[in-house]
Amino acid sequence: MKSQDFLSIRDFPPEEISRLLDSAQKIKAKPADYAHALEGKTLAMIFEKPSLRTRVSFDVGIQQLGGHPVYLSPAEINLGKRESVYDVAKNLERMVQGVMIRTFAHEIVEQMAKHASVPVINGLTDYSHPCQAMADYLTILEVKGKIAGLKIAYVGDGNNVAHSLMFAGAQLGAHVWVATPTKYEPDPKATRWARARAEQTGGQIHLTAKPEEAAEGADVIYTDVWASMGQEAEAEKRKKIFRPYQVKAKLLALAKEDVIFMHCLPAHRGDEVTDEVIDGPHSVVFQEAENRVHAQKAIMLELMKDVPIESRWKTTGKRPVGR
Ligand code: CP
Ligand code: NVA
Repeated sequence: MKSQDFLSIRDFPPEEISRLLDSAQKIKAKPADYAHALEGKTLAMIFEKPSLRTRVSFDVGIQQLGGHPVYLSPAEINLGKRESVYDVAKNLERMVQGVMIRTFAHEIVEQMAKHASVPVINGLTDYSHPCQAMADYLTILEVKGKIAGLKIAYVGDGNNVAHSLMFAGAQLGAHVWVATPTKYEPDPKATRWARARAEQTGGQIHLTAKPEEAAEGADVIYTDVWASMGQEAEAEKRKKIFRPYQVKAKLLALAKEDVIFMHCLPAHRGDEVTDEVIDGPHSVVFQEAENRVHAQKAIMLELMKDVPIESRWKTTGKRPVGR
């Protein structure tokens, strides 16, 4: 892979994203073949926001590859306050072979990647959630047998999950429709990037304010919470604005007969999705959650396989031997 870190789906050429999905499918099919692939290696997991899936899937995933996780809670690290990002990076690179980080500002993961000589994986920022998108497209591939040309309708807030869904969709030639209320569209720069990449892959990126337009004939309908972590103060206001964007049976009825319903979870049932839809026959949300494990095993394997356990620092010098 070109990049040593996994910060954004945008950092890779389309064939690398496809290759990672291929690897995830192989690992999922025969996990025992990879049981020693990262033997003795350690992944530090820094969380500045809560998590169920990201924490458990990385923890389980690294152990299934023969390695170990170290969980670091917000209170323990207090990134940038108790200790600078630089100092945390310089400590961790001496002890672990990879760092997963979930934080607020995207710049924090970029700083961590800049300063740490070991691979850094983005476990969600305010801007993007690339590991989620890898699990999402792995799920679509499993269920539909292909990705290119499929109509993928994201309905709700133009947030971190929407950005990564667009980036990966553009890389893989999907036709991604994003339906949001005005003022809640994805970041224009994200849309511009996705459109430019889609032009090279046969993909398409469409924005609309009408959920029905996105859902019409869709192969996939996807939604996420209306107020993300860190936006709790806006939750009540957003509930009113987003109400017409609820994914309910009537919206699903506009899609293809074999449409699948996806959600990164956690879900706020009764807000962005009804029980009828999330518990209904089209829903693949728990397969999608499981696929976090398999997709991230492929990512960890790719990034961490060549990082040695031995100290790379000379006892007399400051510089590591190789990166
Ligand atoms: N989808 C996801 O990232 O879930 P968590 O916030 O529980 O990790
Ligand atoms: N958009 C959500 C995703 C959670 C996995 C958030 O950032 O809270």
